[in-house]
Amino acid sequence: MPQIARKPFIDVLDGERQARPPLWMMRQAGRYLPEYRATREKAGGFLDLCFNPELAAEVTLQPIRRFGFDAAIIFSDILVVPYALGRSVRFVAGEGPRLDPLDTPQEIATLAPTADLSKFEPVYEALRRVRSALAPEVALIGFCGAPWTVATYMVAGQGTPDQAPARLLAYREPQAFSKIIDAIVETSISYLLGQLAAGADALQIFDTWAGVLPPREFQALSVEPTRRIVEGVRARAPDARIIGFPRGAGAQLPHYVERTNVNAVSIDWTSDPALMRERVQSKVALQGNLDPLALIAGGAALDRAIDDVLENYARGRFIFNLGHGIQPETPIAHVEQMVARVRGYKG
Ligand code: CP3
Repeated sequence: MPQIARKPFIDVLDGERQARPPLWMMRQAGRYLPEYRATREKAGGFLDLCFNPELAAEVTLQPIRRFGFDAAIIFSDILVVPYALGRSVRFVAGEGPRLDPLDTPQEIATLAPTADLSKFEPVYEALRRVRSALAPEVALIGFCGAPWTVATYMVAGQGTPDQAPARLLAYREPQAFSKIIDAIVETSISYLLGQLAAGADALQIFDTWAGVLPPREFQALSVEPTRRIVEGVRARAPDARIIGFPRGAGAQLPHYVERTNVNAVSIDWTSDPALMRERVQSKVALQGNLDPLALIAGGAALDRAIDDVLENYARGRFIFNLGHGIQPETPIAHVEQMVARVRGYKG
């Protein structure tokens, strides 16, 4: 009988603690890597890289080759969903994404209710290529943005410090705003199912801007749309493993976990360890939560920050990660230091 290779990352999502916590990093394919910058230059624009299966597969695999992480995350972006919904999406070097703002009911009335799903085909092809190149014990993660976070970029047309345009629109024009959320929910369900069919072992839903919302809006705009996505995906793929990342949700995380039915949550570095252990890790797996700035700082401060994370969480179901994406200025030697220390954990 051929042995089916275990994936430690998947075992944790399925509820089994690992003595040595599995490890990967959000934004692990990115500008801190010289090999990423070289491939990025070949691709042309950022979206050209996302939609080039060969190059997207290549940059997905780069951090796995270099660091031996337990999971690869498909190289793409959360803004491919607005792109498939017919919005214009561009990335301006050094500045970030630019979209045509969607900030009046008149403009929102023109939004297509359904996406052109064929635009996701190159992402699925990249997933198939990565899956066939990955060792069987390495997991492959698909992802999308949560509707609230994607909507903040669609409404403002760019990143903003406080997501004020989307928050204002949600207060002033709740019905029009729901139309945006609904279109993202429906498209994301199809997109995630397509990623599973193409070989993703697990899915992550990034809600980077969940933390700016008051409790009522957090429930309506972050939790509820995420719950609908999880339900919609599981209606067709009942065993789908889904990680939620409602960044900044803090004390509302237990509620998020109960309502959305995710298998795991990724937590940021400000999380309260006792609350997380007692009310979240007791129910689902935890992923996180090294401060990306400790990774930039390196040295003894980095060792101490890594040890704190392991001390706080590695006795339960746990996946070691950062509390948010790795930043471009992070020295590679510091990532190596982190990998060695986490691999050396004897818990
Ligand atoms: O984690 C990974 O390695 C997979 C790839 C990935 C990217 N974006 C590639 C990327 C993932 C998971 C994302 C998610 C994403 N994209 C989020 C949610 C997670 C988070 O980090 O908060 C958000 C908010 C976006 C939108 C986005 N994409 C912004 C605001 C920017 C510009 C800012 C920046 O960091 O450059 C991007 C561009 C982007 N997405 C880059 C990468 C590697 C850099 C673009 C480049 O190479 O020039």
